[in-house]
Parts: sequence; C-alpha cells; structure tokens
Amino acid sequence: MKQEEFLTIRDQGADEEVPYHLLLEADPSRELVDSYLQHGKLRLAFLDDKLIGVYVLRADENKIVEIMNISIEKTLQGRGFGKHLILDAVNFAKSHGASELIVATGNSSISQLAFYQKCGFRISKIVPDHFLKHYPEKIIEDGIWCRDQIILSMDLSSCP
Ligand SMILES: CC(C)(COP(=O)(O)OP(=O)(O)OC[C@H]1O[C@@H](n2cnc3c(N)ncnc32)[C@H](O)[C@@H]1OP(=O)(O)O)[C@@H](O)C(=O)NCCC(=O)NCCS
Repeated sequence: MKQEEFLTIRDQGADEEVPYHLLLEADPSRELVDSYLQHGKLRLAFLDDKLIGVYVLRADENKIVEIMNISIEKTLQGRGFGKHLILDAVNFAKSHGASELIVATGNSSISQLAFYQKCGFRISKIVPDHFLKHYPEKIIEDGIWCRDQIILSMDLSSCP
C-alpha cells in the first residue's frame, strides 16, 4: 500500500447492496455466503470512494471471532490491503473481548495459507473431508483437490 493511498474500512450500511462479486471470489457457495451473512458483520473497505474489499466476521459465545470471508478486488491484490483488513478484524475482535481470531481455508488454497501465516495466523486444526461434505462441486486449485479444511488461529490474549 503506497503512502498516499487512503483505505477506509467500515460496517455495511443498512441500504447498501451486498458485494457478492467480491464475496464469491473467496467462497463459491452463494448458499453458505448468505447463511453466514445473516449472523455475521460485513465490513467494507474503500480506496477513496471505490469499494475494493470486504470481510465478514462472526463471534461465538466462547470469545472466539471467526473471519468467514475476506476478499480484495483482483486488480488490487498483493498491495497490502488484505493485511489491513486482517488488522481491522484483529482490532474489532480485541475491542469485543475476544481471546482468539480464527479463519478457515482449504488444503489446496496455497496462496491463502501463505497470506494468513504472513498475517500472524498459525495452523491449529484440520477437518478432513469438510469440502466433500459441504460443497457439491469438486474444487481443484493449482492441480490440488480441495478436500480438507485447514483452520488457522491467532491468540489475541498475547497481542498487546
Ligand atoms: C487472500 C487475499 C484476501 C489477500 O489479500 P492481498 O491484499 O492480496 O494480500 P496482501 O497484499 O495484504 O498480503 C499480505 C502478506 O501476505 C503475502 N501474500 C499474499 N498473497 C500471497 C501469495 N500468493 N503467496 C505468498 N505470500 C502472499 C504478501 O506477500 C504479504 O506478506 P508481507 O506482509 O510479509 O509483505 C486476496 O488475495 C484475495 O482477495 N484473494 C481472493 C479471495 C480469497 O481467496 N479469499 C480468501 C479465502 S480463504
């Protein structure tokens, strides 16, 4: 992110459309996206006045906050905006008393696994066959069959 670029991140307004074009880049299931949008918080990122990114957070009763979806406009990826969204999620989770921030991805999502680990997450759990059970279409990324869910977590209690 260049110094002169100004990113604003805020909650979705009541009358604003859901940016499915971004959300479906991160999660191909419209059904699942709609289900977690019902209980999640949708945050929107604007570069000047242009919507360039989104993420969805969901909190549970055990002080765990989960990033359900995160997506940056294709042409603007790799410039630090995704990391800014993660930082915003960390701050939100901490300000709501969460002790842990988690995110899930697939075994074939090599770029995303690199991204999350560079943002400070560590692999904490693997759920075998998750994608076979919850996604009707076979998912292949970089020639790898996506079958297992990888859960990554960040311990917020040790963050200042
Ligand atoms: C995943 C995504 C949100 C990352 O956002 P981004 O703006 O491209 O990432 P950033 O530029 O902020 O990168 C942050 C760090 O991750 C690293 N990173 C990002 N993509 C990477 C990749 N493919 N390989 C290795 N490292 C990568 C960057 O080098 C950077 O590292 P640094 O902090 O050490 O410099 C974005 O690529 C995206 O929207 N992808 C499509 C949707 C998606 O897959 N969502 C996640 C579903 S699980």
